[in-house]
Amino acid sequence: MPDVRDSFKNVAANYSKSTFHTSSARLQEVLDLMRPKPGDLALDVATGTGNTAFALAPYVRRVVGLDLTREMLNEARRIAAEKEFKNTDWVIGDAEHLPFQDDTFDIYVVRAAPHHFPDIDRFIAEAFRVLKPDRDASFIDCAPPLPARDVLHEVEMRRDPSHVLSLTVEEWVTRLERAGFHVEVAQTRELDWNYEEWMNNMAVAPELAAELARVIDASSGEARTQLHPEWREGKLWHAYWHALIRAHKPGT
Ligand SMILES: C[S@@+](CC[C@H](N)C(=O)[O-])C[C@H]1O[C@@H](n2cnc3c(N)ncnc32)[C@H](O)[C@@H]1O
Repeated sequence: MPDVRDSFKNVAANYSKSTFHTSSARLQEVLDLMRPKPGDLALDVATGTGNTAFALAPYVRRVVGLDLTREMLNEARRIAAEKEFKNTDWVIGDAEHLPFQDDTFDIYVVRAAPHHFPDIDRFIAEAFRVLKPDRDASFIDCAPPLPARDVLHEVEMRRDPSHVLSLTVEEWVTRLERAGFHVEVAQTRELDWNYEEWMNNMAVAPELAAELARVIDASSGEARTQLHPEWREGKLWHAYWHALIRAHKPGT
C-alpha cells in the first residue's frame, strides 16, 4: 500500500493555493451543511493545509485539524500564524484511529480525503465514536457516478498512487446508515474541472498528465456523456463530482 504521506509531503504549498480547495463558494458549502454554533468544538479530519478548518474557525469555539502528513500541517500552522487564528489546533493522526475520547466533538467534518482511506468502515466508525450524540458530521468527497467513476478511477490511481476509491453517494449512504448515522442530506454536484490544475496539485510529470488526459478524452458511451471532456485553448476541462453529506448521530 503506497504511503499517503509520500504523496502529499512535497506538494503542501499547492493545496493552500488550489482553486477548488480554497474557493469561498466550496467552503460555504461546508458551512451550509454543518450549521456551526459559537460554542462548538469542531474536528476537521484530513485537514491538509487547513482550508476547511479555517472556514469553520470564525463560527465555532475551537477547531482541531488532524492529518497524517506533517508537512501539510506545517503549512496549516504557518497560515494560522500569518492570519492570526487563535482558536485552531493541529494534530498528527490517522482518520481510522483518532486520538480522541468518545463523544468529544460537536462537529466532525472531512473533505476531499476519504478516497485515500484504506478502510472506509473503520474511518466512519471513528467519526461516529468521537462525535457527541445528537450532533452532525459532514462527509464531502469526490463521488463520480458510474460509469464515469471507472474512467476517473484509472486516472486517479495513476495521478496519485495513494488513491483508494471514490464512493458513489449511494455507497456513502449505505455505509453511514450501517454505522448508525441518520443521513439527513446526501447530494452530489457537478463542477467544471480544470484538469491541468488537478494534475499540477500533485506535481504529475507532464508526460503522464498528457497520457491521462488522453484516457479521459478517449472515454466513450455514457461515461463520455457524463464527463463531457472539452478542450479550451489547448487545455482539458471535464466534469467532476463531489458528495455533500450531512449525517446525524442519534441522541442516547
Ligand atoms: C486533498 S488533501 C485534504 C484537503 C482538505 N481537507 C481541504 O478541505 O482542503 C488530502 C489530505 O488527506 C490526508 N490523509 C490521507 N489519508 C489520511 C488518513 N488516513 N488520516 C488522516 N489524514 C489523511 C493527506 O495527508 C492530505 O493532507
